[in-house]
Amino acid sequence: MKDPKTYFIRTYGCQMNELDTEIMAGQLEKRGMTLAASEEECDLLIFNTCSIRDLAERKVMGKLGRMGRGAKRQTLIGVAGCMAMAKKEALFRKFPHLDFVLGTNNLAELGTVIDEVLYSQRQVLRTEDRFVENLDYLGAKREDQVKASVSIIRGCDKYCTYCVVPYTRGEEVSRPPESIVEECRNLVDKGYKEITLLGQNVNSYGKDRPEWSALFHDLLYRLDQISGLERVRFMTSHPVDITRELMEAIRDLRTLCEFVHFPIQAGSNRILKKMHRIYTKEIYLEKVALLREIVPNVSLGTDIIVGFPTETEAEFEETCEALRQIRYSVAFLFAYSPRKGTPAMRWNDDIPEEVKSARLQKLLEIQEEISQEERKQMLGQTVEVLVERFNRDGEHLKGRTRCWKKVIFKGTEAMIGTLQQVTVHGYSHQTLVGEVRTGGAIPLL
Ligand code: 5AD
Ligand code: SF4
Repeated sequence: MKDPKTYFIRTYGCQMNELDTEIMAGQLEKRGMTLAASEEECDLLIFNTCSIRDLAERKVMGKLGRMGRGAKRQTLIGVAGCMAMAKKEALFRKFPHLDFVLGTNNLAELGTVIDEVLYSQRQVLRTEDRFVENLDYLGAKREDQVKASVSIIRGCDKYCTYCVVPYTRGEEVSRPPESIVEECRNLVDKGYKEITLLGQNVNSYGKDRPEWSALFHDLLYRLDQISGLERVRFMTSHPVDITRELMEAIRDLRTLCEFVHFPIQAGSNRILKKMHRIYTKEIYLEKVALLREIVPNVSLGTDIIVGFPTETEAEFEETCEALRQIRYSVAFLFAYSPRKGTPAMRWNDDIPEEVKSARLQKLLEIQEEISQEERKQMLGQTVEVLVERFNRDGEHLKGRTRCWKKVIFKGTEAMIGTLQQVTVHGYSHQTLVGEVRTGGAIPLL
């Protein structure tokens, strides 16, 4: 097999995977490789995979299977990401044409793994259980020029019974605060305006390294000092770790946006307990009330799983009620999907697919009604939009408010990367439509 000159990385799953793709792409470019025009034409093809639900895995398995049936290719093929960790050498048994499997904690070794494959002409596996801070973050090849993601903690110690992440990404490992601040400064110097701090549970940041005396809110205060940085977001949080200090930081910090992804997962205490979410509905609601008291204009997002083993109709109704009561701005809704190696696998996946679909549909309808009302309330309001790029229609610019609402409006290319005050005069689907306001006192949202 020849030394690859071009690469293509197909990414599945979450923002952490998207960031890992940018880090891998940076490493490959440093090696002198260039991005291929398509997945069919490259010398090296990497699937950066997701294991969170069965469908995510099936997509990649189907693709890998089809590639093996084709004529003998010269392309080097690797699997990275969560499936690499969930399936390890089983992938080689199933796909003899696969060249390497690179775990989520081994990204820094991508170059050595490629060399090893070329040298030995054998399949190479690297899947460490624990992450060690050794990545070239500054070398990441970024997709966007206005917003960037920055990894602050990897892994998860929460062990929700349905979730594969603690097994595919290992335990929590925080990144030193100096390294995070340095990367954020570097990004701002390059012109980035918005940074999303990433982790499976960002609120655990620093707890594994008490000697740093830097918890999540401390880090946020440090980042707020970076001049030129307009906005900071974070993704994702576990409700039990959302502290009063964090809520006050959202209220007080110039950069920190008033949007919190606050996944409830279910509205019934019995199901929450079975999920090992370590909070009750009452504790969760208290947190939401406190957050809304401290930050009255905050927007909330959530994740919900329906059809968890043994979930009754009445328990599902409690989830519907929570959705109506809390009124999130965004809700990501999922049907339960049993994952190998998780504690929930020992329970029968007893809720039929049709019931799961019907429950999903019902939640979608409730959420759509809430979102519609929210959009209607926004008519006539002026909001601060960070302009990201041209919208797909090529006609409008696209950006988001501090509360993460998507807004499109007419404007010029020079507005990309700037903050604009936009008055909302309509909406289509999930998107607000507005026009740039010129002059006058402007209320921020
Ligand atoms: N089945 C369905 N949804 C899941 N999630 C995590 N694991 C599963 C699973 N086994 C959802 C949770 C989590 C989001 C990222 O994915 O809602 O917050
Ligand atoms: Fe998975 Fe729970 Fe950790 Fe989120 S907090 S990554 S759902 S184990």
